[in-house]
Amino acid sequence: MTAGAQPWVDDPFAEAMRSGHGPLWLRRPDGRRLRLEVERWCAPAAGADHELLGRCARLGRPVLDLGCGPGRLVAELLALGVPAMGVDVTLAAVARTHDLGGPALCRSVFDRLPAEGRWGVVLLADGNLGIGGDPDALLRRVAELLTPGGQLLVEVESTAVDECLTVQVEGPDGRCGPPFPWARLGAAATAHRAARTGLSELERWTSHGRTFLALARDRRA
Ligand SMILES: C[S@@+](CC[C@H](N)C(=O)[O-])C[C@H]1O[C@@H](n2cnc3c(N)ncnc32)[C@H](O)[C@@H]1O
Repeated sequence: MTAGAQPWVDDPFAEAMRSGHGPLWLRRPDGRRLRLEVERWCAPAAGADHELLGRCARLGRPVLDLGCGPGRLVAELLALGVPAMGVDVTLAAVARTHDLGGPALCRSVFDRLPAEGRWGVVLLADGNLGIGGDPDALLRRVAELLTPGGQLLVEVESTAVDECLTVQVEGPDGRCGPPFPWARLGAAATAHRAARTGLSELERWTSHGRTFLALARDRRA
């Protein structure tokens, strides 16, 4: 591993974004591995994505997809006539989003972003509540990005988990990228932590084995 290597950006994930396939895993300190669904992310929106996207379309407000990866959600939102933009630290993922015709910025969600405080919907899909390994900080950041009354649509773990851990992306040849902090939260833990940042649960649903929450930013915030 190269000194100063950045997670996602300089690890097997970036290669997978270029090739469009894995297999890839998040390797936990206890040796267990969580599969990263690279092929699904690089394919057109499918299954539970459609319900998520339908909600965005019904809300009819600009959508910011945090950790957009190769951009399938941004691309489908644009096809539905919903203004959308992606943000991702991995250049190869942002390039794929651009190839699909989607606007995307190569930045961290914690960097300065356009229209802060004016986004109608923020998406955290595919486990992205883990970004940064500090879910409270990420939820506070989301609350800053949303307009009052705007909604966070977040995918959560289907089990009752609330853990912050250090992981590494592992590629098909067993090569691992640098360690970085990550988090995994189920619905109850997410709703509880979100409430402390002024994001109130509106609804939760399960589709095709994936679980989601809709949370609204306080209108008086
Ligand atoms: C679990 S993957 C989810 C992929 C994605 N939703 C998709 O459709 O491919 C996490 C994604 O978040 C990105 N990411 C990680 N840390 C980030 C950060 N601080 N800011 C923005 N993106 C980040 C990674 O580059 C990766 O694309």
